[in-house]
Parts: sequence; structure tokens; C-alpha cells
Amino acid sequence: MERLQKLIAASGITSRRKAEELIREGRVKVNGVVVKELGTKVTGKEEIMVDGVALSKEEKVYFLLNKPRGVVTTTDDDKKRKTVVDLIETDKRIYPVGRLDYDTTGALLLTNDGDFANHLMHPSFHIDKVYLAKVKGILKGEQINALKNGVLIDGKKTEKARVKLRKVDHKKNTSMVELTIHEGHNHQVKKMFEAIGFEVEKLTRLRFGFLDVKKLKSGEYRPLTPKEVAQLYALSNQEK
Ligand code: URA
Repeated sequence: MERLQKLIAASGITSRRKAEELIREGRVKVNGVVVKELGTKVTGKEEIMVDGVALSKEEKVYFLLNKPRGVVTTTDDDKKRKTVVDLIETDKRIYPVGRLDYDTTGALLLTNDGDFANHLMHPSFHIDKVYLAKVKGILKGEQINALKNGVLIDGKKTEKARVKLRKVDHKKNTSMVELTIHEGHNHQVKKMFEAIGFEVEKLTRLRFGFLDVKKLKSGEYRPLTPKEVAQLYALSNQEK
């Protein structure tokens, strides 16, 4: 189920905010009945009309982006900074699946398929996300074990993670750590390191599930193949 305004926006005719206005103004009908309630939930199977015109179901598109630094993961930034959506040439109204911080790089999915995005962002969807973090300081065994077993962030213990110390640079006093997690709390990786007293200097997402960005340069993207989309759907149905 989705919110009516979200579905209208996803059809590509207007923004979410404008869709809300249309609803409030009584210009939207669901199965022939005017709906003015903003939170109304719809399945997508209803006949939705805006100003008497039926919404057409937009073709679904899926992209894998190698996100560069200095780009926000949103569709529309208040401060008018460049967004991940600006990097992708499409006439569809796409949005990111989850988020990477402004200064985080790497694998990010974008789509106009709300069901797909909801599936993948559902907290119980256990897909591995692999990050490489450059942190200030040299990690010791006990700190690596703490990350593996779970640390407290925002009062909650993180789930088990896989952690590999890839490299240490004693001269520069930095460590490169590969961290595999399946949760997706806000700033999770940075907060996990903060919890053990380390600051992340650089962060990149190497993989989202089976998708990596090795063949994409920073800022480059490619459409997912139908097989990849089907595989992700299959994974999300399995693991919920
Ligand atoms: N964890 C973070 O701290 N930042 C990201 O961008 C992704 C995961």
C-alpha cells in the first residue's frame, strides 16, 4: 500500500507536494470517488483520475550509480545542492533506494518503482551492504570484535557485522576497514566507528547485495538488467 500523493507523484505527472495540493483541492478521484484525505492508502490497482484524466502507469526504470562525493541523496535539496537524481539522464521521476551521506561514495540504486524501493528498504530485508572505511587511528583486535558483535548506537545494539582490517598505515595513523552490515540506520557506519572511538575520514559503499560498482567510474551509472531486478525482488521476498 502506498500513499495516494506518492503514487500520483510516482506516475510522473507532478511532484509530491503538488499532488498533495491536487488532493486537497478535490481534483483527485479514486475508483470514481473524490478523495481529499492526504494519507489515503492505495494499492496501485485502483483507477486514479486527476482532473478527469486517468493516471498512466509509468514504465519502471532501475539504475545503479557510483555516487561521487559532494552530492546529496535526495530528489530535491533545499540548499540547491546537486542531487543523485541530477546525475541520471531520464525523463522518469526516480528516487534513491536508501541513502548515502553527502561525503560517502559508491553503490546506490535509484528507481521509480515504489514497491521495489519499499521492499529493499524494509528493515527486515537482510541484504548485505559492504562498506570500506578509512578511519583515523589503528584498530585493535578488541575493537574489531566489538564491531563484529554489535555496538550501541542511539541506544540500540547493532546486529552482527563482518569486519576485515584491510590495511593499516602507521605513518599516517589510519586504518582501512571493510564492514559488511545488513541494517541501514542513518549514518550507521560512522556511528559504529564513533561508538568505538574512531572517526571515519572516508567512506565508500563497495557493494549493495550482489551489485558492485567496480566497472563504473565515480558519477557513472548503468541500468540494472531485468535479471538483476528479478534477483533483487526474489531476495527481498525470501528474506522478509
Ligand atoms: N553509513 C554511514 O555512516 N554513512 C553512509 O553514507 C552509509 C552508511
